[in-house]
Amino acid sequence: MKVMLIGSGGREHALIKKLKENKEITELYALPGNGGMAAEATCVPIKATDLNAIEAFAVEKNIDFAVVAPDDPLVLGAVDRLEAHGIPAFGPSSKAAIIEGSKVFSKNLMKKYGIPTAQYETFDEQDKAIEYIRQNNRFPIVVKADGLALGKGVLIAQSLQEAEKAVADIMTDKIFGDSGNHIVVEEFLTGPEVSVLAFTDGKTMVPMVSSMDHKRALDGDQGLNTGGMGTVAPNPYYTPAVAERCMNEIFLPTMNAMNAEGRTFKGCLYFGLMITPAGPKVIEYNCRFGDPETQVVLPLLKTDLFTIMKAVAEEKLSEIKVEFDPGFACCVVIASGGYPIKYQSGYPISGLKAAEEKGAQVFHAGTRQDENGRLLTAGGRVLGVTATAKTLKEAIEKAYDAADCITFEGAFKRRDIGRRALNA
Ligand code: AMP
Ligand code: GLY
Repeated sequence: MKVMLIGSGGREHALIKKLKENKEITELYALPGNGGMAAEATCVPIKATDLNAIEAFAVEKNIDFAVVAPDDPLVLGAVDRLEAHGIPAFGPSSKAAIIEGSKVFSKNLMKKYGIPTAQYETFDEQDKAIEYIRQNNRFPIVVKADGLALGKGVLIAQSLQEAEKAVADIMTDKIFGDSGNHIVVEEFLTGPEVSVLAFTDGKTMVPMVSSMDHKRALDGDQGLNTGGMGTVAPNPYYTPAVAERCMNEIFLPTMNAMNAEGRTFKGCLYFGLMITPAGPKVIEYNCRFGDPETQVVLPLLKTDLFTIMKAVAEEKLSEIKVEFDPGFACCVVIASGGYPIKYQSGYPISGLKAAEEKGAQVFHAGTRQDENGRLLTAGGRVLGVTATAKTLKEAIEKAYDAADCITFEGAFKRRDIGRRALNA
C-alpha cells in the first residue's frame, strides 16, 4: 500500500511512527513532512494547503490511502478532492470540518441539539456585541473570532474595558485576520480542561484515552497561550462517571447532530471539554487530531492505527476493537526561545540519540535537515519528547530525563508538565 500523510508537525510525526508499524504499507510519503520524519517517510516539498499539488501527487503516485492531519487542508476540502479521484482518505469532508472551521456554526449546532456548552451570542457588528456585553455585565467574558485563526482567536476579558478592546482588536484591527468578521461572545466557564480525541465513522464513536494539554507558555499556567507546551494521558479529571456523561450528553449527540445536518463526520473528532460544577461542557471542537495530545495518545494505542483508519474510511469502525495500554504518557515540548511571539530558527540540535536511549520517543515538530543531514530548528515548537510508564509520576520523570538531554540555542520547556494531573 502506498500511503501519504499531509502535515508537518509533532502530531504528524507521531502518526507516521504509528503508521510505520503496519507492514502492509510499503511506501509512505509525508507532504511536506519535516527533518525528523525523513527517517521514516519520503518527505515531498508540497505545502499542506496546496490542494492542487496534493491532488496531482496522489494521482501520479497511485496513492492507495491518504491521511489529512491539519485543520486548514481539511476545511479547504482535501479529503473531498482525493475521494473524487477514488483515493480513500482519513479525515472529514469540508462540509463536516466546518465544526472546527466556524465557531458560529459549532455554537449554533450545540444550541440546536442541546449539547452542553457555554452560553453565547454571535455578532457581526461591533456595536451590537459591545451593547450585549454591557447589558450582560458579567466578567470575565470570552470573545472568540469565528474562523480558524491558527488555533488562537480567543480573548478572555476581565472587565468591560478589556472586552471592548477585545471586540475592537478582533473586528476592527483584525488581529486574527478575516476570521474576526464574525465573533462569538460567551460565558466564562471554570473547571479542569480535558481533551478527548475520538475515532468516528458517523455510525460509531470510539473515544481514545483522554489527555490534558498545557496551553500556556510558562510554568504555573502563566504567559501567553501557545499551541500546547506538553500533555499527559490519561487525564485524571476524566473519571469513568464523567466519561459516561460525555458519551451520552456530548459525543453521541454531536455525531447524530452532524448526521442530521447532512454533514456526517468521519475521522478524528476532538472534544475540548471543561468539567464545570454543572457537568462537562464543550469549549471547542477540532476536526482533527490535537497537537500535542496525539503525542501522548498514540504511544498508548495498542490496536494498529492504519487498520482503524481504513475502518473509519469504510464506515466499518464497529467491526474493530480499539485498545489502549493501561499505562500513562507524558510529552514535554521543547520550544524556540521567544515562542509563541518571535523566535529565531536554524540552530543545530544535539542530544536526540541520548534522549531516545533514555527510552523516550522524540517527535519532531519544527525541524529541518541541512545539506549535510544535520538537524536544525525550524519552528516555534521544535520537538515533543514522550515517555510512557506504569505510573504518571514515572512517565513524567522519564520524559524530563530524556528531554533534558536535548539542547539547542535558546531552547526552553516548561518544568511542570503533568504536575496538576499528579496533584489531582
Ligand atoms: P479554544 O481555542 O476555544 O480552545 O480556547 C482556548 C482556551 O481558552 C481554552 O483552552 C480555554 O482555556 C480558554 N477558554 C475558551 N473558552 C472558554 C470559556 N468559555 N470559558 C473559560 N475559558 C475558555
Ligand atoms: N492542543 C490543542 C489543539 O490541537 O488544538
